[in-house]
Amino acid sequence: MRIFSIGSLNIDYFYSMSHFVRAGETLSSAKLDILPGGKGLNQAVALIRAGAQVVPCGLIGEDGEMLLSVLDTVGAKNSRIEKRDMPSGHAIIQVDPAGQNGIIVFHGANFAYDEAYFRKVLADAAEGDAVLLQNEINDVGLCMNIAKEKGMRVVFNPSPFDDNIFDLPLERVDLFVCNEIEGAALTGKTDPEEILAALNEKYPDADALLTLGGAGAVYRDKTGIYRHGVFEVDVVDTTGAGDTFTGFFLAAMNESGDPAGALRTASAASAIVVSRIGAALSIPAAEEVKEFLQ
Ligand code: RIB
Repeated sequence: MRIFSIGSLNIDYFYSMSHFVRAGETLSSAKLDILPGGKGLNQAVALIRAGAQVVPCGLIGEDGEMLLSVLDTVGAKNSRIEKRDMPSGHAIIQVDPAGQNGIIVFHGANFAYDEAYFRKVLADAAEGDAVLLQNEINDVGLCMNIAKEKGMRVVFNPSPFDDNIFDLPLERVDLFVCNEIEGAALTGKTDPEEILAALNEKYPDADALLTLGGAGAVYRDKTGIYRHGVFEVDVVDTTGAGDTFTGFFLAAMNESGDPAGALRTASAASAIVVSRIGAALSIPAAEEVKEFLQ
């Protein structure tokens, strides 16, 4: 089974800050790191590093070479990323001393998707393949519909969350991957168990993976409910942790179908990512995750 990762690629500008900038305040940053990121790229890299068969898709501008080179670095095959005559997406990321972030995203080429591109990159997709989507590109709903026409499994990470999500054909989704905030926004519930129950009631055919920050993660499918806590590490930067979790979880589920094992592997991969600055380039290889778990 191949996973078509169709999502955003961003040039991430990481500013190390003493605290997040407040209204009316001007604040110096001690350090700037310019690194590849974007939820789509991070999740594609995580899938590749975890050993899944991935088809990375996405749109960049003429300034997006660094975004392509990260895919070369991790040995991506079948990349279907195309250039458009506009700037690449970028993100301005403040990182505080506790490793927490605040992010501004500029869409750039990530909002240049059209039906022709979706149909082209999914032309050879077959029943049983999956598409992995986030909410950082335009026309996500159209892509869900095309994927379903082909009998694909649709995995949706509704991040960043906005009200447009309710206009999407969410009944097409086979697996929701959300954090607590996104899960609450989707269901109106705050307690994780209630979020899962409400998702199940609204979308009975969909499975759900809910990440809970420091409280770990919980996954629900037809076979049951599975939980895992976090591995304690020194947190440097949490950017990309959720994307890494998603990629490693999907890859492990693909390989073994064992939710408990997949949660454990994904938790370890995310723990490694938060101990480093950056997103896509911080994602560990499968061997490093195995060593961590030993
Ligand atoms: O999920 C992390 C990502 O969110 C960053 O890499 C940034 O580009 C934003 O899209």
